[in-house]
Amino acid sequence: MSTETTGWRPAPPLPDFAQLRGQVLLRLDQLLPAGGPAPPRLHDAMRDALLGPGKRLRPILTVLAARRFGGDEAAALDAGCAVEMVHAASLVLDDLPCMDNALLRRGRPTTHQAFGQDTAILAAIGLLSQAYGLLAALPAVPDDRRARMVAVLAGAVGAQGLVGGQEIDLHARQQHVAPGQVDELNHLKTGVLFVAALEAGAVLAGASEDCLPPLRRFGRHLGLAFQTLDDVLDVAATAEAAGKDVQQDAGKPTLVSLFGVEGAWRRALDHLRLARAELDARPACHLSALLDEVVAGLPLPAGMLRRGI
Ligand code: IPE
Ligand code: IPE
Ligand code: MG
Ligand code: MG
Ligand code: MG
Repeated sequence: MSTETTGWRPAPPLPDFAQLRGQVLLRLDQLLPAGGPAPPRLHDAMRDALLGPGKRLRPILTVLAARRFGGDEAAALDAGCAVEMVHAASLVLDDLPCMDNALLRRGRPTTHQAFGQDTAILAAIGLLSQAYGLLAALPAVPDDRRARMVAVLAGAVGAQGLVGGQEIDLHARQQHVAPGQVDELNHLKTGVLFVAALEAGAVLAGASEDCLPPLRRFGRHLGLAFQTLDDVLDVAATAEAAGKDVQQDAGKPTLVSLFGVEGAWRRALDHLRLARAELDARPACHLSALLDEVVAGLPLPAGMLRRGI
């Protein structure tokens, strides 16, 4: 199979994000079909965690990154689904009583509320394992790229990524944390998966090495902005609008605790600007359009959204 690399391609037409979200959901449903061979209760819990109405931001990042370098569309969709499986697993674990103790996720009872903590933990492990298996077996992608994508995702999940970030989030207290450390925490628990989503798409498509740093920096700023906006949502949105528990972060090391809602909002906007600047130098890139769409869709107070995006 080919190991040639490719540079930035001319931008493909602006995608219909709602349609792309629909394609992701359809493919997730095919990858984990109802009535699969796993024990039914576990299988139902995995489907419940995976198929709820999420924004599908990470798989869309993978697909858009792959498109920018001419990657196989079906393989890119599957790679994005693998990233979404990791994300769904992280949400199941994050919501557990021993972690954030949440009742509501994507407008529905959390997985442990619906299936019990034991099955929820097993469902998260099941989703993680399926994600790696899916990447490792992607058809139409050369072996070396598949191996690299698995390594990218494993690095993002591991102790120097999401899992490490969650550990700090749960055990560091607000008063002991400086602003730079909050950014690092936000990067670990959220940003690394954004970066991995983009990198997986680029690697799948055989992007040359010099194309990766700007994508990674875009992902880092997007992740930092996204987690900061999520922390703003925690104090500024209703549970009904957010589809999940709010007012959960008191005492947690967040930029909202350090700088208040306005200060955190300004920092999130700074990161969005920096994310955009990373790609302004490239041929027009729809990652910026995705960024606008996602932020505009967050259930933040209208006054805030009018300011600055
Ligand atoms: C929630 O992520 C967890 C955070 C990193 C803040 P999303 O806001 O992307 O969750 P879904 O997938 O849309 O439910
Ligand atoms: C979660 O951050 C980041 C994850 C890795 C899941 P939060 O705990 O703020 O996410 P929500 O608010 O529960 O979605
Ligand atoms: Mg949490
Ligand atoms: Mg949480
Ligand atoms: Mg949150």
